[in-house]
This record gives sequence, structure tokens and C-alpha cells, in this order.
Amino acid sequence: MSRWTLTLEPEGSGPLFLRIARGVMRDIRRGRLKPGQQLPGSRPWAQELGLNRNTVLAAVAELEAQGWVTTSPTRGTFVSQALPEEVATAGGKGLAPLGVVLPPEPEFLQSRPFTLPPEVLHFSAGTPDPRLVPVELIARTWRRVVRRGGRRLLEYGEPGGHPALRRALAQMVSEVRGVPASAQQLVVTRGSQMALDLLARAVLRPGEAVAVEELGYRPAWEALRLAGAQLVPVPVDADGLQVDALERLAKRRKLRAVYVTPHHQFPTTVTMAAGRRLQLLALAKRYGLLVIEDDYDHEFHYEGRPVLPLASADDAGVVASIGTLSKVLAPGLRLGFVVAPTALADRLVRLRAVMDRQGDHPMEATVAELLEEGELQRHVRKMRGVYRTRRDFLVRRLEAKLGEVLSWKVPSGGISVWAQVKKPIDLQRWLGKALVRGVSVHPGARYTFEGREPGALRLVFARFNEAELGRAVDLLAGAL
Ligand SMILES: Cc1ncc(COP(=O)(O)O)c(C=O)c1O
Repeated sequence: MSRWTLTLEPEGSGPLFLRIARGVMRDIRRGRLKPGQQLPGSRPWAQELGLNRNTVLAAVAELEAQGWVTTSPTRGTFVSQALPEEVATAGGKGLAPLGVVLPPEPEFLQSRPFTLPPEVLHFSAGTPDPRLVPVELIARTWRRVVRRGGRRLLEYGEPGGHPALRRALAQMVSEVRGVPASAQQLVVTRGSQMALDLLARAVLRPGEAVAVEELGYRPAWEALRLAGAQLVPVPVDADGLQVDALERLAKRRKLRAVYVTPHHQFPTTVTMAAGRRLQLLALAKRYGLLVIEDDYDHEFHYEGRPVLPLASADDAGVVASIGTLSKVLAPGLRLGFVVAPTALADRLVRLRAVMDRQGDHPMEATVAELLEEGELQRHVRKMRGVYRTRRDFLVRRLEAKLGEVLSWKVPSGGISVWAQVKKPIDLQRWLGKALVRGVSVHPGARYTFEGREPGALRLVFARFNEAELGRAVDLLAGAL
């Protein structure tokens, strides 16, 4: 067996244990590590890397969870003989290895989403509880709609979205969110992610600057970067984006756009103060910059009425507002939308036609029917009650088990709690141990530029029932 050593990529982002795991995957893909080859024991390996053993254990747990290695308590850790499909089919009997040189991959593409095994409680996954998705209702409605719509639904259709869904969403946005959009000003996308990609392509030339919130939503940053944006972080505080800081920036350099999450700032959950909203709109108008508003969880607000989106007060045509059905219905449907002034909406439709031709019209027509019949609204009302109860439960449990260590402000909406770590604690070590025990939590570093750790955790309460929330908090507390 050849002596193998891991080289960590110096520029890597994210928690250290994931960087180690990614390094091992990379070496398996490149053939530096062969199926069946033994990895060093955690103790000597940790020593060799100059790291804490728990970090190494967390990396091994992650690799095992994804099927890259197998471990036996007595024999050690080995590169799996049955590798994940992507590797197992990459050589050998499958296609020949790539025979052309690819340009270097942008560093941000490395942060691919990880799948964790079902036995790990993924406490930071921002998704609804999959068990509460109204599967039967969706299946029944789809069947009815496809039967009725017949072959027309299965033809090529409008790239901007199925007309019934555009109409139904435009009506919802206008009645519930106070944004008086016509169906033509609403473009259906595959989730917010495509909306961001389309907007970035529509408004940016490579190298242009876009301001983003820090802390913030990395998938949005990556979509913007893919279109060549130079991102400029702007700090957030208890009132949301610091618009004064944005203004100072706008005076110094040309900004093309700003990406914001004003309803519940991601990940800190704070709502942007009214004064700041007005200030932001005025600033956008003055400097000619597009406000990309990500209104991803408008429906989940528990105290009083939800604050209306910036787009509802936009009299200058400077806001493009993004919505998604990933939280209110299910992320796998890949349904989202953008509301934008006509000239921009039209451009988005033309871009979409090139990239993706059109969405899944049978499913779009199904969701239109769920909206027209009030089913989706009923589901949202139900989920709002469930999530509010779960939020309150989580907060009580945190108080009981981690009140000495964490502090938080109970969020008025959304699906997560942003908890600050009050004491000097080695967060990486703590979360590494927690992962080994079966609960995965993202540290604040995941939401900053350059991986700076703000000393905070994102804890999502939507996905788990009370028993699971209790167990997740207990595991986290036990790992301290
Ligand atoms: C800030 C933010 N925007 C958008 C989304 C939804 O993304 P998509 O619609 O692409 O599933 C999420 C979900 O995690 C989010 O947290």
C-alpha cells in the first residue's frame, strides 16, 4: 500500500471537516486513493494534519455517510469497494476518462450540496417537513389536470410559465403581498435559484459589482458569481442590511445591483426596518441599481401581519422580487418566480427560452389549480400553525438545555432560529462532535465571506417534529 497524504486546498471554504472530506473524495476521483485502500487511523491522521481528532472523525463520518469509505471499529477505515455511482461509472466499463483540458473550475463550484444519511438529524436544512407535504393532493390534482389538459399540456408551451400559473401567482402576489403585478410581469422559474441566475444574466456584464448582505445566502452569491459579478459584502445588523454602508459604497464605485432578503434576513432572521426599506428604495433610484429582493418565506410570519415586500412600495421600477414554492409546498417541485417591470420580465422570458425552453407545464398547471381552489392557501395556513408551535418548542428546549451557552431573539417568522454563541467555545470541535453523535449543524462561517466565524448557529425548526427537535437539541448539548 502506497503512503498517501492528504493535501488540503488552501483556498477551501466551509468547515474544516468538510474540506478534509472533499480532499479525500478528490483523491479517490483522481485515483490517488484506490478502492479498498486503508486510510490512516484518526489519531495519527489528526496528528499529521495538526488538527483535533474530532474534526477528523467528523470528516470520516461524512465520507462514510456518502458511501466513499467504510469503517469497522476493529479494522479501521477503507476506501469503499462500492463507490458512489459518479465514481464507479467514471472509468472502467463506463466512458473513457475526459480527453480534453477543462479550464480551472471556479472555486465556488466546489461547495456542492451534501446529502446526509437519514439517521443524521440535519438541523440546518432549510426545507419544510417532507412528511407534511400534501402528496396525495398533488398526485390527485396532477392526474386530473393532465387528463383534462390532454395533449396540449405536453406540447411545447410558453417559456415564461404556464399561463394559468402566471395568472394565479400574479393574483396571489397582488392580493397577499401588495405587489400589483400582471401575469406578463410574473415569470415562472425552476425555484429561486433559476430566478437568480436569469436575473444575473439579464442585468450584469462580467466584472460588474453587486452588493450582497453579509451574513448571507451563499447559493445566491454563487449564481451571481457565475454571471461574472464581483460581489461586495455589506454588513447586516438587528435592522437588516446597513443601507448607510451601501450608500457609502455606491458613492465610491458603480454598483449594478443589490441582493437582499428583507422579510426575514437570511440567516439572521431579522426583518428590515421600515426606514431602511424606504432608504434602500430611494438609494436604488438615485444610483440606478436593481434591487433583487428574495422574498423566500413571505407566508411564514407568526407575529402580526407579514411585512410587505419592497416591490410593493416600488414606484421607480427598480425592484425585481423573487418568490419560491420550496418552503410553502416542496423544494423538489422546483417552482419559483420573479416579478419585475415589463421590460425586465420580457428579457427574463427570452433568456429562459434559450437556457431551459420552458418548465414542467403539467406540474405548473397542477399548482395553478391548487392555488385557484384555495388548497395551497389552506396548506400554508396549516403549516404556519405547525411551524409556530415547533418554533416555540425549540426555543423552550434551547432555554432548558443550551441557555447558558447560546442566546437568540425569537424570530417573528421564517423557519429557523439564529443562535449566538455566548461563551468562548471551539465551534468546529463542538459541531464535529455533534455530527459524530448524529446531528448536523451549520456554523455561522457558512454564511460569511472568506469563512469568517461569527460565533453563531442556524437551527431550523420546520423539518422536525417535537420529539426530533428535542433529540437534536439534546445531542447538540451532549456534544458540548
Ligand atoms: C434565502 C433563500 N432563498 C431561496 C431559497 C429557495 O431556493 P429554491 O427556490 O431555489 O429552492 C431558500 C431555501 O433554502 C433560501 O434560504
